[in-house]
Amino acid sequence: MEITVIHLIILGVITGLTKGAGLLPEGPLNAAVGGTVMFTTTLTPAEKPFITAAWKFGDRNIITSNVGNITGPEYEGRITYFTSTASLELRNLTLNDSGEYRVTITPQGEAQKHGNISLSVHVPVSNVTVNASGTDLVEFSSSVHLSCSSSGSSLSFLWLNGSSEVAASDRVQLTDGGSTLTIVNVTRYDQGPFRCRVFNPFSNGTSDPVNLTISYGPENIYFTISPTQESFEEGSNTSLSCSAVSRPSALFNWFLNGDLQSDTGPELTLINIQMSHSGNYSCQAFNKKTMRYQTSQPSVVSVLERISGASVKSSTNMPIEGSSVNLTCDAAGAVFTRKWVKDGSNLTLTENMILHDNNRVLSFISLNKKDSGEYSCKISNPINTEEATYTVVVNYGPENVQITGPNEIHIEQTLTLTCSAESTPSASYTWTLNGAELQNSAIFTKNITELSDSGNYICEAMNNVTGRTSSSVVHQLSVTAVKTSPCSAGCIAGLVIACLVICGAGFGGGYYIYKKRINNKPQAHDTEREEHMYENTSEVYENI
Ligand SMILES: *[C@@H]1O[C@H](CO)[C@@H](O)[C@H](O)[C@H]1NC(C)=O
Ligand SMILES: *[C@@H]1O[C@H](CO)[C@@H](O)[C@H](O)[C@H]1NC(C)=O
Ligand SMILES: *[C@@H]1O[C@H](CO)[C@@H](O)[C@H](O)[C@H]1NC(C)=O
Ligand SMILES: *[C@@H]1O[C@H](CO)[C@@H](O)[C@H](O)[C@H]1NC(C)=O
Ligand SMILES: *[C@@H]1O[C@H](CO)[C@@H](O)[C@H](O)[C@H]1NC(C)=O
Ligand SMILES: *[C@@H]1O[C@H](CO)[C@@H](O)[C@H](O)[C@H]1NC(C)=O
Ligand SMILES: *[C@@H]1O[C@H](CO)[C@@H](O)[C@H](O)[C@H]1NC(C)=O
Ligand SMILES: *[C@@H]1O[C@H](CO)[C@@H](O)[C@H](O)[C@H]1NC(C)=O
Repeated sequence: MEITVIHLIILGVITGLTKGAGLLPEGPLNAAVGGTVMFTTTLTPAEKPFITAAWKFGDRNIITSNVGNITGPEYEGRITYFTSTASLELRNLTLNDSGEYRVTITPQGEAQKHGNISLSVHVPVSNVTVNASGTDLVEFSSSVHLSCSSSGSSLSFLWLNGSSEVAASDRVQLTDGGSTLTIVNVTRYDQGPFRCRVFNPFSNGTSDPVNLTISYGPENIYFTISPTQESFEEGSNTSLSCSAVSRPSALFNWFLNGDLQSDTGPELTLINIQMSHSGNYSCQAFNKKTMRYQTSQPSVVSVLERISGASVKSSTNMPIEGSSVNLTCDAAGAVFTRKWVKDGSNLTLTENMILHDNNRVLSFISLNKKDSGEYSCKISNPINTEEATYTVVVNYGPENVQITGPNEIHIEQTLTLTCSAESTPSASYTWTLNGAELQNSAIFTKNITELSDSGNYICEAMNNVTGRTSSSVVHQLSVTAVKTSPCSAGCIAGLVIACLVICGAGFGGGYYIYKKRINNKPQAHDTEREEHMYENTSEVYENI
């Protein structure tokens, strides 16, 4: 009954808009099997009954109303006729009621009028179901057919993918009036849910969702080592992990230098790693649904022994200038690089030096005293660095031997002569005077000089490590008496006696002689020498 009411409203609207087919609005009318339909004419209720009115379905009589009412046998009990408008209600509809209906009336005093309309009776849509040729599919190789079936008549179909309508394309075909959806070469995005929606003009229905399981991959394989490094200390731990885009999840295998390892799973943990663990690791992902593989690029794991016990050793512990010396830098563990440092700065190789054996040996061809210093060797690998130091002291000399001291000295004065030389270790010295050995020390001292101490003092320096002796250095010394005139001992005695006699009154004369002498000498030492002379004179006098 409700359905009929809806149709009345629809008819009313349509009447206002169209001229219709005569007395009836334009059709068709749709109705469900078992339902009711109302054929409403456009007439306003008439004052006077019509002379005749007749409804026909094709050429079959439904009702003819003039003197009495004649109802067709098939319509007995199924119709209600409205005399004032000639409208007709038809109930208990069957599919056989679909077709063309026609009404003819003859109002009093007017010409005959006609109207016609068609009726479609539909079986309502129900039991919409989808049948899939398969739901377990493989990307890029499977195709799938989804067929939709439904009860009902005059059906039309559409497919929903999620909430949007499926559109036909190269890959997506809609056949059998839209009831079959074929997806060729499925992709992972075709998982749905797919639903079939069925319509007829009177009703609609939607199927349960169908989900497709689409296997894909593995792809985008991603292999990482953590911690992220290439070199590992012997005894440390590391873990390698592998992932891949895959449905279902990939299975993983591991390879070391191309050899399949017994470990499986997305993570390979290496505990207490040893040298034998070094190599190229790769992982392989396998999808047992797609039967596809993907293998990662290999990554290098190198296991290294820590550097320890670094040392620098010298080929000699007594390096001598001019000799050749090797400093050898060694350590236990995996040595990657060696670097030499001298006195805190990177070593600059001179012509004198050669590095052998990847910097292991620093070779001095001919040692120079400038090569003395602190040598460090830094040994490194990606794990650690160790440094060892060696101090080189180049033994050399003696050289530049020099004697310092006076060349002239007065008798009975103290004589000090110093001999020096450049030498490592310090030199030892030997003094000789006129061929006679005097003393073995750097400083030669004589408290009270005698005239016989005049002569050529020779100093010789010697280095007992280098085994070298310097060439002799000669220093001339003259020990002078009070008077400078060339005079023998007897002459001096005579002079003294003369003095005793002549200079009884004082030593003014002596002073005079002295003064006269110094006037002939260079000025520089005047004062000093004057005093010495004076003292000496009085000493000599007193002694007598
Ligand atoms: C015809 O039927 C209608 C309704 O069923 C009724 O109102 C009318 O009086 C009938 N006419 C005659 C002449 O019997
Ligand atoms: C419809 O008509 C066919 C013959 O045309 C008949 O066989 C069938 O029984 C009819 N159906 C109904 C529901 O009256
Ligand atoms: C399926 O699609 C992929 C990419 O869309 C294409 O590479 C492949 O050739 C297709 N396979 C078939 C059988 O059409
Ligand atoms: C279904 O929808 C997804 C996006 O939601 C789309 O990528 C895919 O191609 C669609 N599949 C079909 C068969 O329409
Ligand atoms: C389907 O039918 C329902 C009533 O059963 C109606 O409300 C809805 O609008 C219809 N949908 C379409 C798309 O025709
Ligand atoms: C690892 O691979 C690299 C290059 O791919 C190669 O040079 C190296 O020798 C390989 N190492 C081992 C242990 O196979
Ligand atoms: C220093 O090392 C070089 C190279 O190893 C070697 O030829 C040379 O004989 C060594 N010299 C000394 C003094 O050990
Ligand atoms: C020289 O004099 C110093 C002190 O003036 C004295 O210690 C030393 O013994 C003296 N040497 C000689 C040989 O008399």
